[in-house]
Amino acid sequence: MSDKPWGGVFSEATDRRVEKFTESVSFDRRLYAHDIRCSAAHAQMLAKVGLITDDECHQIVQALDDVRQQIEQGHFAFSVELEDVHMHIERALVDRLGDVGRKLHTARSRNDQVSTDLRLWVRDAIDQIDAALAAVQRAWVVRSAGDREVILAGYTHLRRAQPVLAPHYWLAYCEKFQRDRERLADCRRRTNVLSLGTAALAGTTLPIDRQEVADRLQFDGLAGNSLDASSDRDFIIEFAFVLALVAEHLSAWAEEWILWSTTEFDFLRLPQAFCTGSSIMPQKINPDVLELIRGKTARVIGNLTRLLVLVKGLPLAYNRDLQEDKEPLFDSFDTVLACLELAAPLIEQAQLNRTAIAARLEEGFLDATTLMEYLIRRGRPQRTAHDLVGNLVRAASERGVPLAQLSLEELRQCDPDLDESVYQVLGTQNAVAAFVSFGSTAPAEVDKQLERWRQKLGIPGNDQIEPAETAQDKLGL
Ligand code: ARG
Repeated sequence: MSDKPWGGVFSEATDRRVEKFTESVSFDRRLYAHDIRCSAAHAQMLAKVGLITDDECHQIVQALDDVRQQIEQGHFAFSVELEDVHMHIERALVDRLGDVGRKLHTARSRNDQVSTDLRLWVRDAIDQIDAALAAVQRAWVVRSAGDREVILAGYTHLRRAQPVLAPHYWLAYCEKFQRDRERLADCRRRTNVLSLGTAALAGTTLPIDRQEVADRLQFDGLAGNSLDASSDRDFIIEFAFVLALVAEHLSAWAEEWILWSTTEFDFLRLPQAFCTGSSIMPQKINPDVLELIRGKTARVIGNLTRLLVLVKGLPLAYNRDLQEDKEPLFDSFDTVLACLELAAPLIEQAQLNRTAIAARLEEGFLDATTLMEYLIRRGRPQRTAHDLVGNLVRAASERGVPLAQLSLEELRQCDPDLDESVYQVLGTQNAVAAFVSFGSTAPAEVDKQLERWRQKLGIPGNDQIEPAETAQDKLGL
């Protein structure tokens, strides 16, 4: 009984089955470094306001560091009897320091302690995901420089639509991941608020200095309402949402590249180091990494759902349900970080099959919309131009040729106003070159985009970037 920090009021020992059921140390031990940091700052504040002496504070900080080393060296014994990481570390302190160790929990509850540990942990996790997202963005930018001249078919409804430059495609993903990074920064702002000092739920009658703790732990502000702070898990849910959206973006990309690397499309060759084979069909080279990136999105969405349902209908303030927040949080972080760390090299190393792409560029009338806009520039109302080009596409389809191979006579049968200049916008190459609008696939606009991303991500200019192939050769891949 006396093993538990709540010994006094209890006259019965905890049932073993209850210990097993209620423990969280099997997963929350990964908060140990943040818990120790949080405790050291708390002790320093207690000394500053005179609730413990400087010497006691010194002993506590030293002993905490000793516990940290013991955990890191793998010599620390965790057991379900001590429930969670917070109780383990406090017990280790009491074992070392006796009554001095028993003072650390002054003006503190595990409710504000676990919340603070989590805020510190999420803050670090956000920074790691942000760095991994930046690495993926850099991979897209490097690819874009290498694929600058390649024209791809752009799709809507997965039907060939209009031509786009390959870097335009790649930089579209840079934008999505940039918005994810902005969402992370926003979530970090709300995460980086100190909850310690709200104690169990109502605050404390002891003369603590919360700002001192906030400064030591580099929090930007203090949670303003103790009831709210001890129940608030919004920051975890927000982070889990951003992770789910990152996973969605990765999943959409993975699906696209799985498709593009099929025999049917044949646009892309995936590096073999990122594929696996079949145990029965000797010829198979399967895109398993991309498939798992797509598949793991399910668990990240599941984790977000779990968290949302977890807090639904919880009365103020702390409820033990909240212990269930950690596993989905950790799992979403681990999963998305692993996906991002594989995405970056895969993006850099995959090779476009330029010959196969070029061979089919004149299929699908990618220049039809450009031709329509050419007619609009010559004074046709849009609806009329749309109809005229529709007729031309029908005529060309019947003959089995692209628009550019229709003779001027054939073109004039649909629109007598046409002259030789129409050939300047026909054909996929011409069609791409004809774009002009801001943010479009116009070559000059794509160059501007590329330059903007280079500056944002601190990547050297075109001439200084090694083409993807050379970088790969160097790595011996
Ligand atoms: N292991 C608990 C959790 O993660 C720590 C807080 C426990 N607080 C309490 N009043 N039982 O939520």
